[in-house]
Amino acid sequence: MRKGIILAGGKGTRLYPLTSVVSKQLLHVYDKPMVYYPLSLLMFANIRDILVISTPHDLPKYEELLGDGSDFGLNLSYKVQLAPRGLPEAFILAEDFLDGAPSALILGDNIFFGSGIPPLLEKVSADREGMHIFSYLVQDPREYGVVEINEKREVISIEEKPQNPKSNLALTGLYFCDHQAPALAKALKPSARGEIEIIDLMKQYHKIEQLKMQQFGRGTAWLDTGNPDSLLDASNFIATIERRQGFKVACLEEIAFNKEWINRETLERLAEKQRNSFYGKYLYTLLGY
Ligand code: DAU
Repeated sequence: MRKGIILAGGKGTRLYPLTSVVSKQLLHVYDKPMVYYPLSLLMFANIRDILVISTPHDLPKYEELLGDGSDFGLNLSYKVQLAPRGLPEAFILAEDFLDGAPSALILGDNIFFGSGIPPLLEKVSADREGMHIFSYLVQDPREYGVVEINEKREVISIEEKPQNPKSNLALTGLYFCDHQAPALAKALKPSARGEIEIIDLMKQYHKIEQLKMQQFGRGTAWLDTGNPDSLLDASNFIATIERRQGFKVACLEEIAFNKEWINRETLERLAEKQRNSFYGKYLYTLLGY
C-alpha cells in the first residue's frame, strides 16, 4: 500500500513575524489549520499510513493536534527534520517508515480544491512505477518549479524558480514516487544553495524514463500560501466556498466518516469535543442533528 509523507518543516521566514513562534503549516486557513488541507488530499488518495515531518521545535505541536490519527481513521507517525536540507530529504527520513512501499509526498503548505482531484489521485496512486509530478497552469511561474513538455505531453525540461520560464506550467508540491525514492534521494548532491533539490530527484527519474506528469485542470484550485496576501486570499477562497455551499473543505472527520474509516460514535465524540466552534457544529450536522 502507498504511504504518505507530509513535509511541514522549514523556517517560514517569508511570513515573519507571523511564523516567528508558530509553524507556517499550523497557521489558520479560514477555519482550520493549514496542514488539514494537504492531509485531506492524501486521504482522498486513500492513503492512511502517513508520516508527518517537521522541526524539533514544531513537531510536538503536530502530535498534539493530530495525535495518532485514529480520530481521522489514519495511522500517523512523526519524524524530526533537524534542518531544512531540501525537499527530497523527506524520502530519506521516511525510509524506515516506507519500508519499500511507494509513497506520496505533499508539502504541508499546499492547498488544493476541486472535484476532479480524488479520481485523478486514485488513478495515479494505482500506478506503482516511477515518479508522478503534478503541474498547474499559472500566469507567473517564476516562484515555482517549472516544467516544459512536448506535444505528446512528455517532460522535456524542469527548472526551479527560473527567471525566464520555458512554460507556464508550475510544479505543485505533490509528488508520487515508487520504492526507489529514498535510494535516489540519498544519491543527490546539494545545490549551490546548500539543499538537495526536488527537481534533481525528478531528473533522476527522467533519466531512467520513469518521470510522468499530470496536470490539474482549470476546474481545480491550487492556492498559494507563500506571503500574507496569498494566505489571506486562500482563507477568503475557502470561506467563500464553505459559506456558499454549506459544506466544509478539508474536514478530516467528514472525509473519514464518508469513507467509513470512523464510526458514528467517534464522530459524535469529536463533535462534542469541538461543540463550541462552527467546525464542531458542522460535525453534528453530519450526524443528522
Ligand atoms: O509549492 C510548490 C513549490 O514548492 C514547487 O513549485 C517548487 O518546485 C518546490 O521547490 C517548492 O518551492 P518552495 O519555494 O515553496 O520551497 P521551500 O523551500 O519554501 O519549501 C516548501 C515547504 O517545505 C515550506 O513550507 C517549507 C518546507 N520545507 C522545505 C525544505 C527545503 C521543509 O519542511 N523542509 C525542507 O528541507
